[in-house]
Amino acid sequence: MELVHIEIRDILKKKIEKIFERKFENIDVQYSTKKEFGDFQTNFSLINSEIIGKKPREIGKMIIKSLENDQKNDIIDKIKIAGPGFLNIFLKNSKIWQNLKKIGTEKYDFPIDTSKKVLIDYSSPNIGKRMHIGHLRSTIIGDSLKRIFEYIGFKVSGDNHLGDWGSRFGKLIIGYKKWLNAEEYEKNPIGEMERLYVKFSEEAQLNPELEVMAKEEWMKLKAGDENNRKLWQSFVDHSFREFEDFYRKMDVKFDYCIGESFYNEIILETLKILEEKKISSDIDGELKVFFEEKDKLEPCVVKKKAENSYLYSTTDLATLKYRKDTLNIDRAVYVAVEKQKKHFRQVFRIAEMIGKPYDYEKNHVWFGIMRFEDGVVLSSKKRGMIRLIDIVNQAVEEAKIIIDIKNPTYSEEEKMKISEIVGLGAIKYFNLSQNRMSSICFSWDKILNFEGNTSPYLQYTYARIMSIFRKMNEENLEIDNVYDVEYMELNDDFNENERELAVKLLKFPNSVLKAYELCKPNLIADYLFETAKIFNSFYAVESILREEDKKKFNTRLLLAEKTASILKEGLSLLGIKVIEKM
Ligand code: ARG
Repeated sequence: MELVHIEIRDILKKKIEKIFERKFENIDVQYSTKKEFGDFQTNFSLINSEIIGKKPREIGKMIIKSLENDQKNDIIDKIKIAGPGFLNIFLKNSKIWQNLKKIGTEKYDFPIDTSKKVLIDYSSPNIGKRMHIGHLRSTIIGDSLKRIFEYIGFKVSGDNHLGDWGSRFGKLIIGYKKWLNAEEYEKNPIGEMERLYVKFSEEAQLNPELEVMAKEEWMKLKAGDENNRKLWQSFVDHSFREFEDFYRKMDVKFDYCIGESFYNEIILETLKILEEKKISSDIDGELKVFFEEKDKLEPCVVKKKAENSYLYSTTDLATLKYRKDTLNIDRAVYVAVEKQKKHFRQVFRIAEMIGKPYDYEKNHVWFGIMRFEDGVVLSSKKRGMIRLIDIVNQAVEEAKIIIDIKNPTYSEEEKMKISEIVGLGAIKYFNLSQNRMSSICFSWDKILNFEGNTSPYLQYTYARIMSIFRKMNEENLEIDNVYDVEYMELNDDFNENERELAVKLLKFPNSVLKAYELCKPNLIADYLFETAKIFNSFYAVESILREEDKKKFNTRLLLAEKTASILKEGLSLLGIKVIEKM
């Protein structure tokens, strides 16, 4: 199904080009923000008044006239000129009806070339360390973007770029050999690895010899020493086991989990290229890339002097090459915290300096930090011992308390199932419903509120609609015109409330398109919240099941069904499930 604002734009474009006998690219048609402004608006006449050499309102009149003479137009009902020359465009009710019927059964044709292969790099925690809130946000935003890009029609893969390499593994090996609590390592592996790491730092202050030993172990690991390799693999496997519990709980899946350690060979190739192309300079044995003044970037070290160590940026450069050469991608999207802006700007700029195959479309989709109510930033540096999975589990428990009160008659099993979906949805929605670029403050009251802009509110609205359909079945409503969309006759006499809801429903793909363009899932969340509010006020004043007029009954039932369909689809783009009753 074509997006309505695109259809309108195309109609206008044809007419305008015929009237003025020239081409116009970028004709902008937007959904109106207020009912009085019609369903859509364009500022075409204002913007092109000079080029055309006529007053905006005059241009508007010419467009309106050509529309009036068009017998074939079955989309635009009327156009009105407003203010200095805005055009307010009103849809024909029959068009609204036709599109409404298609919702949920036909895919949208987004006006986007989706032939590109996209990779989204998200979550990407570090082995041996607890995931922190940054990883929670990256996991949730990345997963949602993946769903949105797929919905638009792209082939998308998700890559979990694990931090599984670096000199800290030498320290962990020493810690493991000296102080391991084997039982804890099995029970709470990351906790134990963190303990070993801290213990190492403490002991090394007393005994600096330990640092030397750790370095040796790291060198041995890099050289492929069999024993150290085994230990390292065990750190990776044990950590990943814990990460996986979290991903399972979050319902997040990756296509690849290629850690930094994988890129060692390609790093060597990359450094060679940097040297050959004279992009890097050797400063006392350290390889550095200097940027042009206009880049406003500090020099980037790509190889350290000491132990031939490579850096975060070198690995990311190598990763760019691998993803192009082997995974054949055309665009990479990195979902990582704001703090890494400089890092990605450096990497992207160096990639540009090298050219192919490092240089292709890439974006750092950054997000602000999340604070807890008391102002504490949650990160693994602050060893608050909070694990992400505990936050999710707590969300489920908090949801359970509310569900217990709201639905005392449900079975324990049912209540548990609902609480899982509500609790998890609440955490995800809280992260996705706010502009990713702002820092956000976490509070249970905000998250689990059934009234505000929260996923429980949206899930509740969905369940409310489902209950209408359940009631219809239960009561076996005696309506001779059985509700069946396919055979429903054209009903284009909407009342004002019906029409408002219907037009809002048509707007859904537009919110997805905008969310895709700006990599901002909150635009979908905003849309869903507005839609749910409109539905709920609609339902407060318009009867559905008690409506005796057959046509009205069908229209309203159709509106309810399509609202539910869009809530479900929209929430699924945020990685959130719906519940039939709640
Ligand atoms: N492991 C990094 C961290 O925990 C995030 C990696 C992001 N992805 C990337 N390709 N650099 O901060």
